[in-house]
Amino acid sequence: MTTLIVHPTTQPLVGSVPVPSDKSIGHRALLLGALCHGNSRILGFSHGEDNVSTATCLRAMGVSIAEPAPEELVVTGVGLDGLQAATGDLDCGNSGTTMRLLCGVLAAQRFRSTLVGDETLSRRPMMRVAGPLRARGALLEGRRHPTRAGEIVAPLVVGPLPQGRHLAPLEHDSPVASAQVKSAVLLSGLYAAGMTRFREPTVSRDHTERMLSALGVPVRTTGPVVEIDPAGWSRRMPAFDVTIPGDLSAAAFLLVAAQIVDGSRVVARGVGTNPTRTGLLEIARDMGAGIAVEARGERSGEPVADLHAWSSSMRAITIGGETVPRAIDEIPIACALAARARGTTRIRDADELRHKESDRIATMAGVLRAFGVMCAEHPDGLDVEGVDGPLAAADVDSKGDHRIAMASAVLALVARAPSRVRDAGCIATSYPRFVATLRALGARVDVED
Ligand code: S3P
Repeated sequence: MTTLIVHPTTQPLVGSVPVPSDKSIGHRALLLGALCHGNSRILGFSHGEDNVSTATCLRAMGVSIAEPAPEELVVTGVGLDGLQAATGDLDCGNSGTTMRLLCGVLAAQRFRSTLVGDETLSRRPMMRVAGPLRARGALLEGRRHPTRAGEIVAPLVVGPLPQGRHLAPLEHDSPVASAQVKSAVLLSGLYAAGMTRFREPTVSRDHTERMLSALGVPVRTTGPVVEIDPAGWSRRMPAFDVTIPGDLSAAAFLLVAAQIVDGSRVVARGVGTNPTRTGLLEIARDMGAGIAVEARGERSGEPVADLHAWSSSMRAITIGGETVPRAIDEIPIACALAARARGTTRIRDADELRHKESDRIATMAGVLRAFGVMCAEHPDGLDVEGVDGPLAAADVDSKGDHRIAMASAVLALVARAPSRVRDAGCIATSYPRFVATLRALGARVDVED
Protein backbone atom coordinates (compact mmCIF):
# COMPACT_ATOMS: atom_id res chain seq x y z
CA MET A 1 0.00 0.00 0.00
CA THR A 2 1.32 3.43 -0.93
CA THR A 3 2.23 5.83 1.88
CA LEU A 4 3.13 9.48 1.36
CA ILE A 5 5.63 11.10 3.67
CA VAL A 6 4.92 14.79 3.44
CA HIS A 7 7.53 17.16 4.84
CA PRO A 8 6.67 20.56 6.30
CA THR A 9 7.32 23.25 3.71
CA THR A 10 10.42 25.34 4.23
CA GLN A 11 9.64 27.68 1.35
CA PRO A 12 6.51 29.09 -0.33
CA LEU A 13 4.80 27.08 -3.07
CA VAL A 14 5.26 28.91 -6.33
CA GLY A 15 4.33 28.07 -9.89
CA SER A 16 1.81 27.87 -12.69
CA VAL A 17 0.53 24.36 -13.32
CA PRO A 18 -2.00 22.49 -15.45
CA VAL A 19 -4.48 20.21 -13.66
CA PRO A 20 -6.02 16.92 -14.82
CA SER A 21 -9.07 16.97 -17.05
CA ASP A 22 -12.45 17.26 -15.38
CA LYS A 23 -13.49 13.80 -14.21
CA SER A 24 -17.24 14.49 -14.34
CA ILE A 25 -17.07 15.81 -17.90
CA GLY A 26 -14.75 12.96 -18.92
CA HIS A 27 -17.32 10.31 -17.89
CA ARG A 28 -20.06 12.06 -19.80
CA ALA A 29 -17.96 12.60 -22.93
CA LEU A 30 -17.11 8.89 -23.05
CA LEU A 31 -20.65 7.71 -22.39
CA LEU A 32 -22.34 10.09 -24.80
CA GLY A 33 -19.61 9.49 -27.39
CA ALA A 34 -20.53 5.80 -27.21
CA LEU A 35 -24.24 6.57 -27.77
CA CYS A 36 -23.66 8.94 -30.71
CA HIS A 37 -23.24 7.98 -34.37
CA GLY A 38 -19.66 8.22 -35.68
CA ASN A 39 -16.27 9.15 -34.27
CA SER A 40 -16.16 11.59 -31.37
CA ARG A 41 -12.82 13.13 -30.33
CA ILE A 42 -12.08 13.75 -26.67
CA LEU A 43 -9.09 16.06 -26.21
CA GLY A 44 -7.19 16.74 -23.00
CA PHE A 45 -8.19 13.41 -21.42
CA SER A 46 -5.89 12.66 -18.48
CA HIS A 47 -6.50 9.00 -17.60
CA GLY A 48 -7.64 9.20 -13.99
CA GLU A 49 -8.62 5.68 -12.98
CA ASP A 50 -12.31 6.57 -12.58
CA ASN A 51 -12.58 7.79 -16.18
CA VAL A 52 -10.65 4.74 -17.33
CA SER A 53 -13.29 2.56 -15.58
CA THR A 54 -15.99 4.15 -17.73
CA ALA A 55 -13.92 3.52 -20.88
CA THR A 56 -13.30 -0.10 -19.86
CA CYS A 57 -17.02 -0.77 -19.31
CA LEU A 58 -17.91 0.76 -22.68
CA ARG A 59 -15.24 -1.28 -24.46
CA ALA A 60 -16.67 -4.41 -22.81
CA MET A 61 -19.99 -3.57 -24.49
CA GLY A 62 -18.43 -3.37 -27.94
CA VAL A 63 -17.53 0.33 -28.16
CA SER A 64 -14.18 1.02 -29.80
CA ILE A 65 -12.10 3.67 -28.01
CA ALA A 66 -8.76 4.47 -29.63
CA GLU A 67 -5.96 6.65 -28.34
CA PRO A 68 -4.27 8.14 -31.40
CA ALA A 69 -2.19 10.58 -29.30
CA PRO A 70 -1.50 11.17 -25.61
CA GLU A 71 -4.54 12.78 -23.97
CA GLU A 72 -6.67 12.22 -27.09
CA LEU A 73 -9.36 9.56 -27.40
CA VAL A 74 -11.55 8.66 -30.36
CA VAL A 75 -14.81 6.98 -29.40
CA THR A 76 -16.67 5.21 -32.19
CA GLY A 77 -20.30 5.66 -31.25
CA VAL A 78 -22.74 2.80 -31.77
CA GLY A 79 -25.94 4.83 -31.42
CA LEU A 80 -28.54 4.52 -28.67
CA ASP A 81 -29.35 0.90 -29.56
CA GLY A 82 -25.91 -0.44 -30.54
CA LEU A 83 -24.43 -1.55 -27.20
CA GLN A 84 -23.81 -5.30 -26.87
CA ALA A 85 -24.01 -7.47 -23.77
CA ALA A 86 -20.61 -7.77 -22.08
CA THR A 87 -19.30 -11.29 -21.66
CA GLY A 88 -18.45 -10.71 -18.00
CA ASP A 89 -19.14 -8.22 -15.22
CA LEU A 90 -18.77 -4.50 -15.86
CA ASP A 91 -16.10 -3.37 -13.41
CA CYS A 92 -16.66 0.22 -12.25
CA GLY A 93 -13.62 0.16 -9.93
CA ASN A 94 -13.92 2.98 -7.40
CA SER A 95 -16.17 5.12 -9.58
CA GLY A 96 -19.67 5.90 -8.35
CA THR A 97 -20.29 8.07 -11.41
CA THR A 98 -19.48 5.16 -13.75
CA MET A 99 -21.85 2.83 -11.90
CA ARG A 100 -24.75 5.23 -11.47
CA LEU A 101 -24.66 6.77 -14.95
CA LEU A 102 -24.36 3.36 -16.57
CA CYS A 103 -27.46 2.21 -14.67
CA GLY A 104 -29.45 4.84 -16.56
CA VAL A 105 -28.31 3.52 -19.94
CA LEU A 106 -28.36 -0.20 -19.09
CA ALA A 107 -31.89 0.03 -17.70
CA ALA A 108 -33.14 0.38 -21.29
CA GLN A 109 -31.09 -2.39 -22.90
CA ARG A 110 -32.48 -5.71 -24.13
CA PHE A 111 -29.69 -7.56 -22.31
CA ARG A 112 -28.77 -8.13 -18.69
CA SER A 113 -25.64 -6.50 -17.20
CA THR A 114 -23.88 -6.97 -13.90
CA LEU A 115 -22.09 -3.96 -12.43
CA VAL A 116 -19.40 -4.53 -9.81
CA GLY A 117 -17.07 -2.19 -7.94
CA ASP A 118 -14.19 -2.22 -5.48
CA GLU A 119 -14.71 -2.56 -1.74
CA THR A 120 -15.42 1.15 -1.25
CA LEU A 121 -17.88 1.44 -4.13
CA SER A 122 -19.62 -1.75 -3.01
CA ARG A 123 -20.64 0.00 0.22
CA ARG A 124 -22.27 3.03 -1.46
CA PRO A 125 -26.06 3.42 -1.66
CA MET A 126 -27.64 2.57 -5.01
CA MET A 127 -31.35 2.80 -4.19
CA ARG A 128 -31.23 6.48 -5.19
CA VAL A 129 -30.83 5.39 -8.84
CA ALA A 130 -32.66 2.06 -8.61
CA GLY A 131 -35.80 3.76 -7.24
CA PRO A 132 -36.54 6.11 -10.15
CA LEU A 133 -35.37 3.62 -12.78
CA ARG A 134 -37.63 0.90 -11.38
CA ALA A 135 -40.46 3.42 -11.29
CA ARG A 136 -40.20 3.68 -15.06
CA GLY A 137 -40.21 -0.09 -15.51
CA ALA A 138 -36.53 -1.06 -15.35
CA LEU A 139 -35.27 -4.23 -13.73
CA LEU A 140 -32.53 -3.35 -11.28
CA GLU A 141 -31.51 -5.56 -8.36
CA GLY A 142 -28.69 -5.25 -5.86
CA ARG A 143 -27.33 -6.83 -2.72
CA ARG A 144 -29.18 -5.86 0.43
CA HIS A 145 -27.32 -3.20 2.45
CA PRO A 146 -25.96 -4.91 5.59
CA THR A 147 -27.51 -2.40 8.02
CA ARG A 148 -29.82 0.04 6.21
CA ALA A 149 -33.29 -1.38 5.57
CA GLY A 150 -34.51 -0.84 2.00
CA GLU A 151 -31.05 0.16 0.72
CA ILE A 152 -29.12 -1.78 -1.92
CA VAL A 153 -25.45 -1.89 -2.86
CA ALA A 154 -23.37 -3.38 -5.70
CA PRO A 155 -23.12 -5.85 -7.34
CA LEU A 156 -26.09 -4.60 -9.34
CA VAL A 157 -27.92 -6.58 -11.98
CA VAL A 158 -29.60 -4.31 -14.53
CA GLY A 159 -32.05 -5.30 -17.27
CA PRO A 160 -33.07 -6.76 -19.58
CA LEU A 161 -36.01 -4.67 -20.70
CA PRO A 162 -38.31 -7.17 -22.43
CA GLN A 163 -38.68 -6.85 -26.23
CA GLY A 164 -41.57 -4.58 -27.15
CA ARG A 165 -41.52 -2.73 -23.79
CA HIS A 166 -40.16 0.79 -23.35
CA LEU A 167 -39.20 2.75 -20.27
CA ALA A 168 -42.22 4.71 -19.10
CA PRO A 169 -42.43 8.50 -18.71
CA LEU A 170 -41.23 9.64 -15.29
CA GLU A 171 -41.58 12.55 -12.92
CA HIS A 172 -39.06 12.19 -10.14
CA ASP A 173 -38.62 14.42 -7.08
CA SER A 174 -35.15 13.59 -5.79
CA PRO A 175 -34.69 14.07 -2.05
CA VAL A 176 -30.96 14.74 -2.67
CA ALA A 177 -29.20 17.20 -4.98
CA SER A 178 -27.17 14.64 -6.92
CA ALA A 179 -25.84 14.97 -10.44
CA GLN A 180 -25.25 11.23 -10.58
CA VAL A 181 -28.91 10.47 -9.90
CA LYS A 182 -30.05 13.27 -12.20
CA SER A 183 -27.78 12.05 -15.00
CA ALA A 184 -28.88 8.42 -14.64
CA VAL A 185 -32.50 9.51 -14.89
CA LEU A 186 -31.84 11.82 -17.87
CA LEU A 187 -29.86 9.14 -19.72
CA SER A 188 -32.68 6.66 -19.22
CA GLY A 189 -34.96 9.39 -20.57
CA LEU A 190 -33.20 9.13 -23.96
CA TYR A 191 -34.88 5.72 -24.30
CA ALA A 192 -38.25 6.49 -22.73
CA ALA A 193 -41.63 6.56 -24.39
CA GLY A 194 -42.50 10.05 -23.19
CA MET A 195 -41.43 12.80 -20.89
CA THR A 196 -38.76 12.72 -18.16
CA ARG A 197 -38.97 15.36 -15.46
CA PHE A 198 -36.35 15.46 -12.67
CA ARG A 199 -36.50 17.86 -9.76
CA GLU A 200 -33.81 18.24 -7.09
CA PRO A 201 -33.76 20.36 -3.91
CA THR A 202 -31.01 22.66 -5.27
CA VAL A 203 -29.08 22.59 -8.51
CA SER A 204 -26.27 20.02 -8.79
CA ARG A 205 -23.60 20.01 -11.52
CA ASP A 206 -25.19 20.36 -14.95
CA HIS A 207 -22.60 18.87 -17.32
CA THR A 208 -25.00 16.20 -18.60
CA GLU A 209 -27.67 18.75 -19.48
CA ARG A 210 -25.14 20.96 -21.28
CA MET A 211 -23.77 18.09 -23.33
CA LEU A 212 -27.17 16.59 -24.19
CA SER A 213 -28.41 19.98 -25.30
CA ALA A 214 -25.31 20.48 -27.51
CA LEU A 215 -26.12 17.12 -29.14
CA GLY A 216 -29.63 18.23 -30.07
CA VAL A 217 -31.53 16.39 -27.33
CA PRO A 218 -34.62 18.38 -26.30
CA VAL A 219 -33.57 19.18 -22.72
CA ARG A 220 -35.09 22.08 -20.82
CA THR A 221 -33.84 23.37 -17.48
CA THR A 222 -35.90 25.62 -15.23
CA GLY A 223 -34.05 26.18 -11.93
CA PRO A 224 -33.77 22.81 -10.20
CA VAL A 225 -36.09 21.07 -12.71
CA VAL A 226 -34.78 19.38 -15.85
CA GLU A 227 -37.02 17.88 -18.53
CA ILE A 228 -36.51 15.84 -21.66
CA ASP A 229 -39.48 15.68 -24.00
CA PRO A 230 -38.52 13.26 -26.77
CA ALA A 231 -41.63 13.92 -28.89
CA GLY A 232 -40.42 14.69 -32.40
CA TRP A 233 -36.75 13.98 -31.57
CA SER A 234 -34.85 11.80 -34.08
CA ARG A 235 -33.17 9.66 -31.37
CA ARG A 236 -29.86 10.19 -33.17
CA MET A 237 -27.01 12.12 -31.64
CA PRO A 238 -24.19 13.26 -33.92
CA ALA A 239 -20.53 12.63 -33.12
CA PHE A 240 -18.74 15.58 -31.50
CA ASP A 241 -15.32 16.97 -30.57
CA VAL A 242 -14.81 18.03 -26.98
CA THR A 243 -11.84 19.56 -25.18
CA ILE A 244 -12.15 18.79 -21.50
CA PRO A 245 -11.43 21.66 -19.08
CA GLY A 246 -9.18 21.20 -16.06
CA ASP A 247 -10.87 19.77 -12.98
CA LEU A 248 -11.66 22.38 -10.33
CA SER A 249 -12.07 19.52 -7.85
CA ALA A 250 -8.39 18.63 -8.44
CA ALA A 251 -7.16 22.25 -8.66
CA ALA A 252 -8.78 22.87 -5.26
CA PHE A 253 -5.99 21.00 -3.46
CA LEU A 254 -3.29 23.20 -4.99
CA LEU A 255 -5.26 26.41 -4.47
CA VAL A 256 -5.79 25.63 -0.80
CA ALA A 257 -2.14 24.59 -0.41
CA ALA A 258 -1.17 28.02 -1.75
CA GLN A 259 -3.54 29.69 0.70
CA ILE A 260 -2.20 27.96 3.79
CA VAL A 261 1.57 27.95 3.05
CA ASP A 262 2.91 31.43 3.84
CA GLY A 263 4.15 33.47 0.90
CA SER A 264 2.82 31.07 -1.77
CA ARG A 265 1.52 32.05 -5.22
CA VAL A 266 0.06 29.33 -7.42
CA VAL A 267 -1.81 29.49 -10.72
CA ALA A 268 -3.94 26.54 -11.95
CA ARG A 269 -4.41 26.97 -15.68
CA GLY A 270 -7.43 26.18 -17.84
CA VAL A 271 -9.76 25.11 -15.03
CA GLY A 272 -13.50 24.56 -15.50
CA THR A 273 -15.53 27.24 -13.69
CA ASN A 274 -19.06 26.00 -14.32
CA PRO A 275 -21.12 27.84 -11.66
CA THR A 276 -22.56 24.53 -10.45
CA ARG A 277 -19.01 23.62 -9.35
CA THR A 278 -17.50 26.84 -7.96
CA GLY A 279 -18.72 26.70 -4.35
CA LEU A 280 -15.16 26.37 -3.04
CA LEU A 281 -14.06 29.61 -4.70
CA GLU A 282 -16.89 31.44 -2.94
CA ILE A 283 -16.09 29.76 0.37
CA ALA A 284 -12.42 30.71 0.06
CA ARG A 285 -13.28 34.31 -0.83
CA ASP A 286 -15.73 34.61 2.07
CA MET A 287 -12.95 33.41 4.39
CA GLY A 288 -10.68 36.18 3.08
CA ALA A 289 -8.40 33.86 1.09
CA GLY A 290 -6.41 35.27 -1.81
CA ILE A 291 -8.05 34.05 -4.98
CA ALA A 292 -8.59 35.53 -8.44
CA VAL A 293 -10.31 34.18 -11.55
CA GLU A 294 -8.56 35.40 -14.70
CA ALA A 295 -8.35 34.76 -18.46
CA ARG A 296 -11.98 33.66 -18.53
CA GLY A 297 -13.02 31.78 -21.64
CA GLU A 298 -15.03 28.82 -22.83
CA ARG A 299 -14.14 25.26 -23.82
CA SER A 300 -16.72 23.06 -25.54
CA GLY A 301 -19.70 24.74 -23.87
CA GLU A 302 -18.11 24.93 -20.40
CA PRO A 303 -16.64 28.10 -18.83
CA VAL A 304 -12.88 27.94 -18.04
CA ALA A 305 -10.37 30.28 -16.39
CA ASP A 306 -6.94 30.48 -14.81
CA LEU A 307 -7.24 30.41 -11.04
CA HIS A 308 -4.70 32.39 -9.02
CA ALA A 309 -4.27 31.69 -5.30
CA TRP A 310 -1.99 33.27 -2.73
CA SER A 311 -1.63 32.99 1.00
CA SER A 312 -3.47 35.40 3.25
CA SER A 313 -5.01 35.43 6.70
CA MET A 314 -8.47 33.89 6.86
CA ARG A 315 -11.49 34.07 9.16
CA ALA A 316 -14.01 31.35 10.01
CA ILE A 317 -17.40 31.29 8.26
CA THR A 318 -20.54 29.14 8.16
CA ILE A 319 -20.85 26.93 5.08
CA GLY A 320 -24.27 25.51 4.21
CA GLY A 321 -27.34 25.65 1.97
CA GLU A 322 -27.10 25.72 -1.79
CA THR A 323 -23.31 26.23 -1.69
CA VAL A 324 -22.81 22.67 -0.47
CA PRO A 325 -23.85 20.76 -3.63
CA ARG A 326 -21.69 23.18 -5.62
CA ALA A 327 -18.70 22.33 -3.41
CA ILE A 328 -19.59 18.78 -2.48
CA ASP A 329 -16.24 17.22 -3.46
CA GLU A 330 -14.30 20.16 -2.03
CA ILE A 331 -15.57 20.03 1.56
CA PRO A 332 -12.60 17.89 2.74
CA ILE A 333 -10.12 20.45 1.42
CA ALA A 334 -12.31 23.33 2.69
CA CYS A 335 -11.65 21.79 6.12
CA ALA A 336 -7.96 22.57 5.54
CA LEU A 337 -8.86 26.23 5.03
CA ALA A 338 -10.97 26.08 8.19
CA ALA A 339 -8.04 24.60 10.12
CA ARG A 340 -6.03 27.75 9.31
CA ALA A 341 -8.81 30.35 9.71
CA ARG A 342 -9.37 32.50 12.81
CA GLY A 343 -12.37 31.14 14.75
CA THR A 344 -14.75 28.22 14.35
CA THR A 345 -15.91 27.30 10.85
CA ARG A 346 -19.28 25.57 10.81
CA ILE A 347 -20.14 23.21 7.95
CA ARG A 348 -23.80 22.17 7.71
CA ASP A 349 -26.29 20.62 5.23
CA ALA A 350 -23.54 18.27 4.07
CA ASP A 351 -24.92 14.87 5.15
CA GLU A 352 -24.36 13.62 1.57
CA LEU A 353 -20.67 13.50 2.50
CA ARG A 354 -21.41 10.40 4.54
CA HIS A 355 -22.10 8.51 1.27
CA LYS A 356 -18.96 9.34 -0.70
CA GLU A 357 -15.83 7.22 -1.19
CA SER A 358 -15.68 7.21 2.62
CA ASP A 359 -17.91 8.78 5.27
CA ARG A 360 -16.15 12.09 4.67
CA ILE A 361 -17.52 13.77 7.80
CA ALA A 362 -16.18 11.05 10.10
CA THR A 363 -12.95 10.49 8.14
CA MET A 364 -12.14 14.19 7.92
CA ALA A 365 -12.88 14.68 11.64
CA GLY A 366 -10.36 11.91 12.38
CA VAL A 367 -7.76 13.48 10.07
CA LEU A 368 -8.19 16.97 11.57
CA ARG A 369 -7.81 15.63 15.12
CA ALA A 370 -4.67 13.73 14.09
CA PHE A 371 -3.20 17.08 12.99
CA GLY A 372 -4.14 18.59 16.38
CA VAL A 373 -7.13 20.54 15.02
CA MET A 374 -10.15 20.52 17.35
CA CYS A 375 -13.40 19.63 15.66
CA ALA A 376 -16.92 18.48 16.49
CA GLU A 377 -18.84 16.11 14.28
CA HIS A 378 -22.52 16.77 13.51
CA PRO A 379 -24.92 14.53 11.58
CA ASP A 380 -24.70 16.89 8.60
CA GLY A 381 -21.29 18.51 9.01
CA LEU A 382 -18.43 19.62 11.22
CA ASP A 383 -17.26 22.49 13.41
CA VAL A 384 -13.56 23.15 12.86
CA GLU A 385 -11.44 25.31 15.18
CA GLY A 386 -8.72 27.22 13.38
CA VAL A 387 -5.15 26.77 14.64
CA ASP A 388 -2.53 29.50 14.71
CA GLY A 389 0.99 28.18 14.23
CA PRO A 390 2.17 24.79 12.95
CA LEU A 391 -0.12 21.76 13.14
CA ALA A 392 0.87 18.54 14.89
CA ALA A 393 2.62 15.98 12.67
CA ALA A 394 0.12 13.23 11.89
CA ASP A 395 -0.07 9.61 10.78
CA VAL A 396 -3.39 9.24 8.94
CA ASP A 397 -5.19 6.66 6.83
CA SER A 398 -7.15 7.81 3.78
CA LYS A 399 -9.65 4.93 4.13
CA GLY A 400 -9.21 4.46 0.37
CA ASP A 401 -10.66 7.93 -0.32
CA HIS A 402 -8.63 10.00 -2.82
CA ARG A 403 -9.91 13.36 -1.61
CA ILE A 404 -9.14 12.54 2.03
CA ALA A 405 -5.61 11.47 1.02
CA MET A 406 -4.99 14.73 -0.87
CA ALA A 407 -6.54 16.95 1.84
CA SER A 408 -4.30 15.20 4.40
CA ALA A 409 -1.20 15.79 2.26
CA VAL A 410 -2.06 19.50 2.04
CA LEU A 411 -2.55 19.80 5.82
CA ALA A 412 0.80 18.06 6.29
CA LEU A 413 2.57 20.93 4.50
CA VAL A 414 1.96 23.15 7.55
CA ALA A 415 2.72 20.58 10.27
CA ARG A 416 5.78 20.91 12.50
CA ALA A 417 7.37 17.60 11.42
CA PRO A 418 6.92 15.06 8.58
CA SER A 419 3.49 13.37 8.40
CA ARG A 420 2.44 10.04 6.89
CA VAL A 421 -0.61 9.60 4.66
CA ARG A 422 -1.37 5.89 4.36
CA ASP A 423 -3.37 4.15 1.63
CA ALA A 424 -2.60 6.99 -0.78
CA GLY A 425 -2.65 4.95 -4.01
CA CYS A 426 -6.33 5.94 -4.37
CA ILE A 427 -5.18 9.44 -5.40
CA ALA A 428 -4.74 7.99 -8.92
CA THR A 429 -8.53 7.65 -9.26
CA SER A 430 -8.76 11.40 -9.91
CA TYR A 431 -5.28 12.97 -9.90
CA PRO A 432 -2.47 10.64 -10.95
CA ARG A 433 0.08 13.51 -11.08
CA PHE A 434 -0.83 15.04 -7.71
CA VAL A 435 2.48 14.27 -5.98
CA ALA A 436 4.50 15.32 -9.05
CA THR A 437 2.61 18.62 -9.16
CA LEU A 438 3.12 19.31 -5.45
CA ARG A 439 6.83 18.65 -5.94
CA ALA A 440 6.92 20.95 -8.98
CA LEU A 441 5.55 23.70 -6.73
CA GLY A 442 8.39 23.13 -4.25
CA ALA A 443 6.90 20.68 -1.72
CA ARG A 444 8.91 17.71 -0.45
CA VAL A 445 6.93 14.46 -0.64
CA ASP A 446 8.41 10.95 -0.47
CA VAL A 447 6.46 7.92 -1.65
CA GLU A 448 6.80 4.49 0.01
CA ASP A 449 5.22 1.47 -1.68
C1 S3P B 1 -20.50 13.60 -9.71
C2 S3P B 1 -21.47 14.01 -8.85
C3 S3P B 1 -21.26 14.13 -7.39
C4 S3P B 1 -19.80 14.14 -7.03
C5 S3P B 1 -19.03 13.08 -7.76
C6 S3P B 1 -19.14 13.29 -9.25
C7 S3P B 1 -20.82 13.51 -11.14
O1 S3P B 1 -21.87 13.02 -6.76
O2 S3P B 1 -19.63 13.97 -5.64
O3 S3P B 1 -17.67 13.12 -7.39
O4 S3P B 1 -19.89 13.45 -11.97
O5 S3P B 1 -22.01 13.48 -11.46
P1 S3P B 1 -23.43 13.03 -6.33
O6 S3P B 1 -24.19 13.20 -7.56
O7 S3P B 1 -23.68 11.71 -5.69
O8 S3P B 1 -23.55 14.17 -5.38
